Amino acid sequence: MAKPVSIEVWNPNGKYRVVSTKPMPGTRWINLLVEQDCRVEICTQKKTILSVEDIIALIGDKCDGVIGQLTEDWGETLFSALSKAGGKAFSNMAVGYNNVDVNAANKYGVAVGNTPGVLTETTAELAASLSLAAARRIVEADEFMRAGLYDGWLPNLYVGNLLKGQTVGVIGAGRIGSAYARMMVEGFKMNLIYFDLYQSTRLEKFVTAYGEFLKANGEQPVTWKRASSMDEVLQQADVISLHPILDKTTYHLVNKERLALMKKEAILINCSRGPVIDEVALVEHLKHNPMFRVGLDVFEDEPYMKPGLGDMKNAIVVPHIASASKWTREGMATLAALNVLGKIKGYPVWSDPNRVEPFLNENARPPAAAPSIVNAKALGLPVSKL
Ligand code: DGY
Repeated sequence: MAKPVSIEVWNPNGKYRVVSTKPMPGTRWINLLVEQDCRVEICTQKKTILSVEDIIALIGDKCDGVIGQLTEDWGETLFSALSKAGGKAFSNMAVGYNNVDVNAANKYGVAVGNTPGVLTETTAELAASLSLAAARRIVEADEFMRAGLYDGWLPNLYVGNLLKGQTVGVIGAGRIGSAYARMMVEGFKMNLIYFDLYQSTRLEKFVTAYGEFLKANGEQPVTWKRASSMDEVLQQADVISLHPILDKTTYHLVNKERLALMKKEAILINCSRGPVIDEVALVEHLKHNPMFRVGLDVFEDEPYMKPGLGDMKNAIVVPHIASASKWTREGMATLAALNVLGKIKGYPVWSDPNRVEPFLNENARPPAAAPSIVNAKALGLPVSKL
């Protein structure tokens, strides 16, 4: 028998019972649920990662929907428990859903929501921040100052890399990868090389137009290239940012052999999922190549780092905060709540999950639709005409 978990309750007499496994930013998501006759229960247990048992206890005997987190293991056991409690909806408060067994959800007829669109720019901004911090050795220099070691300007103190005119490499030029590429090209006048199974025509046009603008103003134009392989990007780029989804094909995509292909002074950024990099191989590579730098938001065995990583001066590590801007996190909470609400109320699924603005406008009622249900097709859910 699982231990009881502490909860905070909103609108105790609401008809539908919706559980959130964590307190989430903002209050709009709570208000939207309460206005639609939901009793909202928020788990306030002081435990960062809830176990399957904890979540089963939260679901209880009657539960219409759950909003959960990417740290939770949503598989057969939880979907079966949710379905038994009468639940038909689950939403991750995340765009990624590699913690969810969608086939198991399909088996129990549970809709699975995620939150795309709202975190594109915020995530790209963190990838850009890590790129800059690594290039200019900002974290090392900050530690040096705080340690009281600065005793005067020196020509060789924390010399890093100039980004202008270098090449930025993007592996996975979807929404976040493209937004990052644009920031680096436009902001720092870097040339672009990218690898993606799909051609990113919009991104290519953007770089071409910006290159023409620079040329017309007497500056060196920026260029783009769509690489025919990922290895080409690794070999040619000075700064490389990883933006694939995590699945069997991208597990340890960057391994010992691929690290060896990269330039000795390259910068590698990962704001996607930790297991995309073989972290043990990365630690070895960082040890043997002191000018190679890495900026990591995600880790192979999150929340842990592989031994040695935390000691490496040429690694910048932050705790999975790429989507952590106030606007984005409140928006993610709203979208996750509306995914669950939409399914409970029998609304259709929004036709374009990336066009989320109508759901985020605080001054208007959100559309009567579920913003993003990843298994809508498998469950045969109707699609909104809007
Ligand atoms: C996501 O949404 O998948 C992110 O990793 C959370 O920041």
